[in-house]
Amino acid sequence: MEKTFSFVYDEYDSIADLTAEDALLVEGARNATKLAYAPYSNFLVGAYASLASGDFVKGSNQENASYPVGICAERALLASTAQLFPDVPINTLAISYNNLNGSSSLPLCPCGMCRQAINEFENRYNSPIRIILSGMEGKVIVVSQASQLLPLSFNGEAFF
Ligand code: THU
Repeated sequence: MEKTFSFVYDEYDSIADLTAEDALLVEGARNATKLAYAPYSNFLVGAYASLASGDFVKGSNQENASYPVGICAERALLASTAQLFPDVPINTLAISYNNLNGSSSLPLCPCGMCRQAINEFENRYNSPIRIILSGMEGKVIVVSQASQLLPLSFNGEAFF
C-alpha cells in the first residue's frame, strides 16, 4: 500500500509579518549567532527558545579543531535547557544563521542530527515544539511541530 507523508507550514516574507512574540524569538536567534564559535566554517548559527515556564534559553554552534567534536546551536540549546530548567518543555524554538562566507537571507534548515535531537526532546516532554526558521533577513518559515521535520523517525523501537 502506498502511503504519503506531507505537512503544512507557514511562510512569511519577513520578520515584520510575525507576531510580536515570534519576532522576539527570531531576533533572539539572530543575536545568538554572535555567540557562535565557528572559525572553521564561518557559519554562525544561533538558536533561541521560549519555555513553558516563560523562560528563554539560547544556544550557538561551538566548533573544534577536531571537526566532529563541534556541536550545533540547536543541540547546545537543548543541553542547556535540560540543565538549567529540568522538566520544563520548550514551546517554540527559533533558529537563524549568519554565513560569513555568503548570504544569510534564506531560512536555515536544521541538520538531521539536530532534527533527531529536537524530536527526542519533544517526545520526552510529550509537548510539541514549534520551529521558526530564518536567516539574518528575508523569509521566515514556521513549523508547528518538530516531528514534522523528521518523518519515520527512529525512537528506540523498530516500528513507528
Ligand atoms: N550547524 C548548526 O549549528 N546547526 C545546524 O542545523 C546546521 C549546522 C553548524 C555546524 C557547523 O558548526 C556549522 O553550522 C557549519 O556546518
